[in-house]
Formats: sequence, C-alpha cells, structure tokens
Amino acid sequence: MIVAIDGPAASGKGTLARLLARHYGLAYLDTGSLYRAVGQAVLTSGKDPHDETAALEAALSLDTGHIDEKAIRTAEAGNASSIVAAMQPVRDAILDFQRNFAENPPNGEKGAVLDGRDIGTVVCPDADVKLFITASPEVRAHRRWLELNHSGSDIAETQVLADVRERDRRDAERATSPMRPADDAHLLDTSNLSIETAFDAAVAIIDGSMS
Ligand code: DC
Repeated sequence: MIVAIDGPAASGKGTLARLLARHYGLAYLDTGSLYRAVGQAVLTSGKDPHDETAALEAALSLDTGHIDEKAIRTAEAGNASSIVAAMQPVRDAILDFQRNFAENPPNGEKGAVLDGRDIGTVVCPDADVKLFITASPEVRAHRRWLELNHSGSDIAETQVLADVRERDRRDAERATSPMRPADDAHLLDTSNLSIETAFDAAVAIIDGSMS
C-alpha cells in the first residue's frame, strides 16, 4: 500500500503523513528532508545553492541515514532546499532512493507513506491513494512561524509569509516536477481544520478509496 501526500510548505502534510503512517502501520518518508539536507550541505560547504555543480555533488553524496534533523529545519535550509529542488540532476539523483523506499519499505513494513511535492505525479504515479493538502499562505506562514519561534528563531512572521509565498512560486513554477495535484488526487484544505479533524478526513478518504 502506497499513500502519496503532496502539498505546499507548512500545509500540515508532514504531521498528517506521520499520523497516517502510524495508523496504517506503514513506513514514512519525508522527501522534503532530502532536498533540505542537500540545500543545507551546500550552505555548509560555503557554496551558493544556485551553484548546480555543488548541489549535484551534495545530492550524490547524500547520506540518507544521517540527516541532521535540527540543521535542516532552519529558514535558510528551507530556502536553499527549494532552490536545489528546481534542478533536474538533483531530482534525478534522489529519485531512485524515494521509489525504492516506496516499493521496498524498511523493516518489513507492508507499505509506505511518502510526502513531498511530486509524489503523486512523478515519484509514485501508481500510488493507491493520493492526497493534496493545502491551506492559505497566511495560515501556513503562521504555523511555520510558530515552529521556528519554538526552536529559538526570532524571525518575523511577515518574513515567514514572504518566504512561504516565494517558495510556493518557485515550487509551482519550476520546469521540472512542479508542485501540482495529480489528476486523481483528493484535495484537503486544512486552513480551518484542527490536526485531529484533518486526520479524520484523510482516513475517511483513504478508507473510502481502499474499499
Ligand atoms: O516539504 P518541505 O518544506 O520540507 O520541502 C523542502 C523543499 O523541497 C521545498 O521547497 C520543495 C522541495 N521538495 C520538492 O521539490 N519535492 C519533494 N518531493 C519534496 C520537497
């Protein structure tokens, strides 16, 4: 069983994907963390995220077992990730890992939940269920600001909103694997939903499509 979950930054897709994986006993892969790790590696090496050679080098040497979860969650790593994610060679370099995870989930799990931007369209076009999670830019910026604030950042909410809009634009307008709902994706807008209500709605969609 493969569940593909896509959507923009801070739409709630990561939290939902994690809860759904636990509920159905599936493995979980946050594919955004791979692009974040590549972006962060480029920054750490002192290079510019627009430098395609440096980004590809970072993608090819990515150690998926040792991603520094704290380092990749900063606003800088987020912005760098969306720059490197627009490069086709970077995407190609991590495509096999994602597909292999979906088809051969670790620890003998009977399937996987993957979240990202192009899971339903490119990585797992044959997924059993596809969800596209959205929320208004303001709601998403507020959620992301709370997260960043909680982890010690003093970034202003207006700046987070500007970053969210810029990232949406870059992710949706890029030529390669742009963020968009697959034709057979179920749309779920979480702007006015608590995580519990969004989870119940997602379970209803998944159970409905599996029966
Ligand atoms: O979901 P996130 O904010 O952690 O993702 C970080 C960046 O990675 C995002 O700006 C777009 C990119 N990304 C992508 O292009 N394709 C994916 N499947 C997942 C993330």
